[in-house]
Amino acid sequence: MKMLLFAALLGAALVSAAQGADGEISFEYHRYDELRKALVSVWLQCPTITRIYTIGESFEGREMLVLEMSDNPGAHEPGEPEFKYIANMHGNEAVGRELLIYLAQYLCNQYQQGNETIVDLVHNTRIHIMPSMNPDGFEKAASQSGEIKDWFVGRTNAQGVDLNRNFPDLDRIIYVNEREGGANNHLLQNMKKSVDENTKLAPETKAVIHWIMDIPFVLSANLHGGDVVANYPYDETRTGSAHEYSASPDDEMFKSLAKAYSVYNPVMSDPQRAPCRKNDDDSSFKDGITNGGAWYSVPGGMQDFNYLSSNCFEVTLELSCDKFPSEDSLKSYWEQNRNSLVNYIEQVHRGVKGFVRDLQGNAITNATISVEGIDHDITTAKDGDYWRLLSPGNYKVSASAPGYLTVTKKVAVPHSPASRVDFELESLVERKEEEREELMDWWKMMSETLNF
Ligand SMILES: *[C@@H]1O[C@H](CO)[C@@H](O)[C@H](O)[C@H]1NC(C)=O
Ligand SMILES: *[C@@H]1O[C@H](CO)[C@@H](O)[C@H](O)[C@H]1NC(C)=O
Ligand SMILES: [Zn+2]
Repeated sequence: MKMLLFAALLGAALVSAAQGADGEISFEYHRYDELRKALVSVWLQCPTITRIYTIGESFEGREMLVLEMSDNPGAHEPGEPEFKYIANMHGNEAVGRELLIYLAQYLCNQYQQGNETIVDLVHNTRIHIMPSMNPDGFEKAASQSGEIKDWFVGRTNAQGVDLNRNFPDLDRIIYVNEREGGANNHLLQNMKKSVDENTKLAPETKAVIHWIMDIPFVLSANLHGGDVVANYPYDETRTGSAHEYSASPDDEMFKSLAKAYSVYNPVMSDPQRAPCRKNDDDSSFKDGITNGGAWYSVPGGMQDFNYLSSNCFEVTLELSCDKFPSEDSLKSYWEQNRNSLVNYIEQVHRGVKGFVRDLQGNAITNATISVEGIDHDITTAKDGDYWRLLSPGNYKVSASAPGYLTVTKKVAVPHSPASRVDFELESLVERKEEEREELMDWWKMMSETLNF
């Protein structure tokens, strides 16, 4: 499998090398083979900071390709946060797919030119870019003849599954847990097997679930089209009503993240922007952002799944009124979104971050980081490293793990960068020994005193 992919990529590489990778962005649509070639060109141009991998295959057997950018491609570096962009989950929503290809090219070009902002970003972040989560749907949408594409053709995967309604509906679980008690995150913990055996999940959905569970992502965005707004959790309403503001425990931070995107996009943030279509209800939009549930309820979406199954915060970006606009408009979409795309990645460096270790300095994996007043815990990654996105303010942050004494620290969080807070946890066994030693010392002292 891996070898086959490598051979295929190399084949594509030779072709694109022959075409000449001159670092220019060409604003055109990329069909499946062209997408592969474009990613390979970036890899050839910037081999020390990129890697191409696949997270699986679509129903029709197309690779779900990811371009990774980092100063250490292929590895999680302790302390370095991980970020992802996903586009084209609805195969007929094509702008995001192209923007992510251009973004990869832009980051590579700017890195080579020594642009400090981009060099810093690539050195301090592991960035994963997946231009198409639904390559089958895109091929179907793109193969329609003529400029005007049908509004729905290619939306679903090849089985007819709407991938953004296909994720395990963890909102229903969290809404029960909110009332009756229970976990406030990581709701799929110890249930990986049931994901693999679930026949309702499309192959694309399964591949993405594994990806989310395997990599300690901190921040993500899912690029769509059909409207222009940055949408944040929750997407599914508590009561099941069609429109209802559905705040998550991290509502403040999510609003701030959504704005970090919209504010640099002059069309999205324009208060005078007319709705995409005459009858669209945009009444929940403000400053180019909206709560998902307030707009319309989405059960089984990917955004809420990220938040409730992992440490990853995700927003959903609607980037264009037209889902599949004409090729000559792609350059202007890039110009509208370029600064937003870069600025949004930078948000991964906010809040609190650090390491949780024992008194001997060993990493504590899967320790819980909780913030007083925010009912949503996150956990440490393999090296005991964690990233807790938070909007500016004063917080009490605790680290705990089974068998250890919990430590709580007060933290002042600025807008950015993230405050560094490390925790050293004493194991309860050590504590008992310490107490015994203290008691022994006391006895010794007492008996010595009494002997006098
Ligand atoms: C460097 O990159 C940033 C972020 O994309 C951009 O705003 C800036 O214009 C770039 N600088 C140059 C000299 O191109
Ligand atoms: C992580 O910790 C939680 C709670 O302490 C536990 O239920 C879960 O099984 C742990 N997960 C792993 C992968 O060790
Ligand atoms: Zn969509």
